[in-house]
Amino acid sequence: MSDESRPSPAEMPPDTRASTRTAAVIPAAGRGVRLGPGVPKALRALGGTPMLIHAVRAMAASRGVSLVVVVAPPDGAAEVKSLLDAHALPERTDFLVVPGGESRQESVRLGLDALPATYDTVLVHDAARPLVPVDTVDAVIEAVRDGAPAVVPALPLADTVKQVEPAAVPGEPEPVVATPERARLRAVQTPQGFDRETLVRAHETVTDNVTDDASMVEQLGLTVMVVPGHEEAFKVTRPLDLVLAEAVLARRRLNDGF
Ligand code: CTP
Ligand code: MG
Repeated sequence: MSDESRPSPAEMPPDTRASTRTAAVIPAAGRGVRLGPGVPKALRALGGTPMLIHAVRAMAASRGVSLVVVVAPPDGAAEVKSLLDAHALPERTDFLVVPGGESRQESVRLGLDALPATYDTVLVHDAARPLVPVDTVDAVIEAVRDGAPAVVPALPLADTVKQVEPAAVPGEPEPVVATPERARLRAVQTPQGFDRETLVRAHETVTDNVTDDASMVEQLGLTVMVVPGHEEAFKVTRPLDLVLAEAVLARRRLNDGF
């Protein structure tokens, strides 16, 4: 077949485009200090199923994702492997489990180190965002495959944000330094999508502490693109977030006719 008669990448389904294979790395090695005492956050149950399993299913729900790398609590890799074996997951998706590190950044890097060479697009998705809809995952993959080196899903903010001079003692009043224009701010979620080579380079180059992967790519001087996020992609961080997550699951069950 000549090159002219081949469909262009944009016309082909996401999982068959030449040399664009997508893997998802799921950092799940955190303790969940803000959620309170108990098992590591990713292993907490939501609707009777560990949060991590929801997150893995959310990534595997995308036809574009053919490998999921779970970064487990450092001493919990064996437990996470047997959890993945015990829960029904799509046939078309492969799974790998690696032990995580001290920081989220280190955990993501350990996940990237485990990626086979055949993957050129990488999603990084918090285990703590178990309910992200598949349309959000697909939109991120699509934007990376369309040429963006880094893509983040994000939402406009409901609250006005103030920059303050942090108090030395938590809870003490803090002076306001500035009020950024809310309409120009976005609250960023995951999965964040990357050209694999770009994300690996960012992890090799940037050593500052960061709270998301895309900011490392920004530090390389590249433009990160934002696509619409979703309310249900919220991060389970504090106890009230568990209540919200259970409510979202209950609503889904009702809508699915169970
Ligand atoms: N994470 C990780 N390795 C770490 C720390 C965090 O893989 N050393 C993961 C968490 O498991 C989570 C994601 O990064 O899926 C987002 O982090 P966060 O919501 O802050 O989770 P925790 O760090 O576990 O929570 P906390 O900060 O309240 O302790
Ligand atoms: Mg944390």
